[in-house]
Amino acid sequence: MREINASIAVDKRLWREDIEGSRAHAAMLGKQGIISVDDAEAIDRGLLQVAAEIEAGGLSENPALEDIHMHIEHRLRELIGDAAGRLHTARSRNDQVATDFKLFVRRAIDEAIAGIDSLESVLIDRAEQQAASVMPGFTHLQSGQPVTLGHHLLAYREMLVRDRSRFLDARKRMNESPLGSAALAGTGFPIDRDDTAMALGFYRPTANSLDAVSDRDFAVDYLHAAALCAVHLSRLAEEIILWASQPFGFVKLPDAWSTGSSIMPNKRNPDGAELVRGHSARIIGDLVGLLVLLKGLPLAYAKDLQDDKPPLFDAHDLLSVSLAAMAGMMADVEFLPERMRAAAAAGHATATDLADWLVSEADIPFREAHHIAGRAVAAAERAGRPLNELVLDELKAIDLRIDEPVLPRLSVEASVASRRSAGGAAPERVREAIAAARAQIAAREKE
Ligand code: ARG
Repeated sequence: MREINASIAVDKRLWREDIEGSRAHAAMLGKQGIISVDDAEAIDRGLLQVAAEIEAGGLSENPALEDIHMHIEHRLRELIGDAAGRLHTARSRNDQVATDFKLFVRRAIDEAIAGIDSLESVLIDRAEQQAASVMPGFTHLQSGQPVTLGHHLLAYREMLVRDRSRFLDARKRMNESPLGSAALAGTGFPIDRDDTAMALGFYRPTANSLDAVSDRDFAVDYLHAAALCAVHLSRLAEEIILWASQPFGFVKLPDAWSTGSSIMPNKRNPDGAELVRGHSARIIGDLVGLLVLLKGLPLAYAKDLQDDKPPLFDAHDLLSVSLAAMAGMMADVEFLPERMRAAAAAGHATATDLADWLVSEADIPFREAHHIAGRAVAAAERAGRPLNELVLDELKAIDLRIDEPVLPRLSVEASVASRRSAGGAAPERVREAIAAARAQIAAREKE
């Protein structure tokens, strides 16, 4: 029983939050006259000393003491004697752990947002350097139309902006204090829940004691935001892995972000990116694990809830290192714009530009123009040359309405320059998007 019951090996990470919650609770008990002011002060001094000891020397685990809450209270009793026994008045480990866990998740959210912000600013800087660099834009991983590398990088920035807002949403929704819900029903002591809520930085106390001790929505919200953010990082990681491969050759990973092979001296493996991709699988598992843990639980607290912490801690650690690694990798990766441009030109990627020209200059319906451009692609294939290297006679042989002015429109540079619709890939739109992003960041900092 002791072995299955003990959670100290995991929940010792909550020691700071446990001390913080207990200090707020003890101070409130003193103010309300539920315990004497002397005892409240002794408890506070004792808790600060326990914190100093753990900070300096770590926590020595005693499985007989089950969890972090009992460890801290036990040490408090050793330090200050019987007054320690008054700390747990009008409280239960059920509202205590819910409070501690919320404080931890709130901090995890703040750290995730900080990590997202760092990666975001790296992406914006790199996009600015590559605002006009042409690369193939893919659908089905087939060259579709040329785009700019800056535009491609900013696509990930948009995902991160949504991730950030999901974390912020979660933070706003969860920021209510469970403390004072006691075991499940509230308490008969004249506690002041507003006081402890304010002391701990919560907006207000939770409204229902049964809900408060058994709610772990906030952890699910965190894990969902983390899982989706991790999926975005995984997609970016996958691009780096593809781009660093020899057939693509779009990027060179610096030595600091690649590893050698123990047997093949030629290898530069993108292990960092692969681990970001791999970590996302584990974070998704953490989310699913917690949802399944919760789904069959009747109200209110059940010990199953002790198993809420491993997935949360795991996801927090994995997301932190993934965000940091991606920021480092994206800051240092060397783009090879010539290779990208050559690949962009290779797949007859300006066939749409030919069709669009026939629509706007020769008044041909788009469906027919599409068909003519398709025949031009087939002719280019037969000639073994890219579409934009066909000469006018070859194009006229396909359709007489094709004319001289279309020729310069078939270069990849002209193609991207024409994509000027709002949110499009043209270099000028990319530069505008960068300016808008920077303005958004500056406005956020003023909030
Ligand atoms: N270690 C427990 C947890 O993490 C604390 C709450 C214990 N409460 C109880 N009634 N056994 O959930």
